[in-house]
Amino acid sequence: MRKGILSLLAVGVLATGGLTACGDDKAADPGTGSNAKKPKIGVILPDSKSSARWETADRKYLEAAFKTAGVDYDIQNAQNDKAAFQTIAEQMITGGVNVLMIVNLDSGTGKAVLDKAKAAGVATIDYDRLTLGGSAAYYVSFDNVAVGKLQGEGLVKCLTDAKVTKPVIAELNGSQTDNNATLFKQGYDGVLKAKYDSAEYIKGPDQWVAEWDNTTAGTTFEQMLTSTPNIAGVLAANDGLGNAAINILKKQKLNGKVPVTGQDATVQGLQNILNGDQCMTVYKAVKQEADAAAKLAIGLAKGEKGATSQKVTDPEGKREVDAVLLTPKSITKDNVKDVIDDGYVTVAELCTGDFAAKCATAGIK
Ligand code: BGC
Repeated sequence: MRKGILSLLAVGVLATGGLTACGDDKAADPGTGSNAKKPKIGVILPDSKSSARWETADRKYLEAAFKTAGVDYDIQNAQNDKAAFQTIAEQMITGGVNVLMIVNLDSGTGKAVLDKAKAAGVATIDYDRLTLGGSAAYYVSFDNVAVGKLQGEGLVKCLTDAKVTKPVIAELNGSQTDNNATLFKQGYDGVLKAKYDSAEYIKGPDQWVAEWDNTTAGTTFEQMLTSTPNIAGVLAANDGLGNAAINILKKQKLNGKVPVTGQDATVQGLQNILNGDQCMTVYKAVKQEADAAAKLAIGLAKGEKGATSQKVTDPEGKREVDAVLLTPKSITKDNVKDVIDDGYVTVAELCTGDFAAKCATAGIK
């Protein structure tokens, strides 16, 4: 009996071995069921400076999801280097990933990687940023126009609460080569345009910040404030750009007087909020995003087709992409606690030094 089971197992192992070898030949199609290769997922993150999220949140949650599912994975960060991005992708493809998930550095270089993966039979997912004209099978992100809308509405609320009349607004947009930055701008400009049109607000300087670079943002905002000293509100597209503006405002003792927006609920952004220097941030529950993307990736790696209920249109490629779009949340001093309660940032990270007392006032223990 025992011998019987063992020999059955041996046959099973041999059979699996045979199929694996065959699967390797058929690497071009991860969807061939039992012929599929051993699941292996490659992820390329964009950098670690434009936002803390990529290394502190996305990597952590993706890793956890892959480990729980017991699949092989390789997560690398291109550190804002487009050539490195291509090299990493090529190494992952030759290294046998059957799913590649990317956060592109721009659509052109993203597309090159996606096309190469596709030609090698590797399934692809655009993670967080849509590659315009690309070929990814899925797109997993937040509703990015909604993110921008929350930023616009947040700025309006802060200015209204402070009873500022006819404020001059400066806009520090993200990277022009990041489709998300375009969508964020669409969202906040939708809110602000109505105010400009009714002459309640005055449109001030409005600039893109190449590669979301925080140092560039500081220089750009310093020039804005020099040319337009009466800036009374700053729409900054993420917490890093917001912090750059706050640092310049501090030099003029204008911090806390001129509301600044943000995004990503980073520790720095939340501390700026507790300090009263930043008026709001947008919390995107990256765990939900990473879990949704990991689920799709794991399914694809096993040769299954994932189920998504949403679609986005790629205006450049003129195609509909199956998508998961999650809902962002606005965070002000009143609900910083929600980010802690969700486990995104810990009390130990946020409530350091002087922030202990500010956390207590905000009901964070
Ligand atoms: C992401 C933001 C991030 C920004 C800079 C965007 O594509 O959606 O969360 O702050 O890139 O990394």
